[in-house]
Amino acid sequence: MKFQINRYIESIKAYEPGRPLKEVARQYQLEKVIKLASNENPLGFSPKVDDAVQKAMKEMNRYPESAAHALNNELSKRFSVSSENIVLGNGSDDIIALLCHGFLNEGDEALMPLPSFLMYEISVKTAKGVPVMVPLNDFSTNLQGLVEKITSKTRLIFITNPFNPTGSTIDVDEFNDFAQKVPADVIIVVDEAYIEFVRSDQVYNSLKNPLYDPRVVSLRTFSKAYGLAGFRVGYGIMDVQIAGILNKIRQPFNVNSLAQVAAVAALEDESFLNKSIKSTHESLDFMFKELKAMGIEVLPTQSNFFMLDIKSDAKKIFQQMLQLGVIVRSMESYGFDTFLRVNTGTKKENMAFLKALKTVLKKV
Ligand SMILES: Cc1ncc(COP(=O)(O)O)c(C=O)c1O
Repeated sequence: MKFQINRYIESIKAYEPGRPLKEVARQYQLEKVIKLASNENPLGFSPKVDDAVQKAMKEMNRYPESAAHALNNELSKRFSVSSENIVLGNGSDDIIALLCHGFLNEGDEALMPLPSFLMYEISVKTAKGVPVMVPLNDFSTNLQGLVEKITSKTRLIFITNPFNPTGSTIDVDEFNDFAQKVPADVIIVVDEAYIEFVRSDQVYNSLKNPLYDPRVVSLRTFSKAYGLAGFRVGYGIMDVQIAGILNKIRQPFNVNSLAQVAAVAALEDESFLNKSIKSTHESLDFMFKELKAMGIEVLPTQSNFFMLDIKSDAKKIFQQMLQLGVIVRSMESYGFDTFLRVNTGTKKENMAFLKALKTVLKKV
């Protein structure tokens, strides 16, 4: 190529999303395809979201409200924070990128587990920063390993709790011990995309155990438990000064009008949220029981997904499952060559997944 590209992004591997349903149906000429690959909510979203969005459609000739007052107010009441502590994003992906652009100068370092949610690495590199990766310890975040990698160039540390892709978690005591060892000028980003699914009360929750710490940035999303992945809306709760920087550099209309009303309506419908969480837990219990009966090892999880060790080439099994109309994730690109990651589905989807897995593993 004759154009010179930013040398920091040369090594970026593009984010590979889960395969879309329609694409797989077309490729394999299938009538029915199920997707358990992107940790989405199989129950859809609250009917209240539907009503609110229908109404808001009439005003789509107008730009969105940049400050998203209604959503901001709702979140500030819920978490007892000022609206100045809140940053809204086009998904939490957006806030990850804003943090990197706001706080990394060229060559500054951001620490993260290896493997991690790929958007951390992509966003750090795009901001001309250097990702420093710390391998997992027995499928869990190596907090001591992260501390050991802190240098005078460290500006950000990404922690995911519960962790994607393994489903492991960090307990309150572990987090507090870790935070004590992190210098005062390093931002600790705690990505809690899956926190609503946690069942153990030992697990650290940055908005429930709020020993006020200006270094901690909590990231949340409406894409998972609330079922609004397609709307693209997430939020961060953080120190006023950090929020001020992000709000200054975000695109003025980064959360579109429909996403704003959808998120407010979703927050108002506690019963849909609870139904989704209950159904997720029931699905997990069912799937774990069935998989164990098949002799398959499953990693414990506090999330809406889990990893299973099929003791053979995960990429091959993933392909064979695709042909049967079941989309899961092969964990080979994360360095787990024999693992699949699967999220919970409806009862029917869970059964279809188990049936397809039995077929490809020849356990029928
Ligand atoms: C750990 C983690 N963080 C953030 C995100 C991004 O979520 P959003 O849809 O809010 O951009 C995901 C999505 O899969 C995720 O797994």
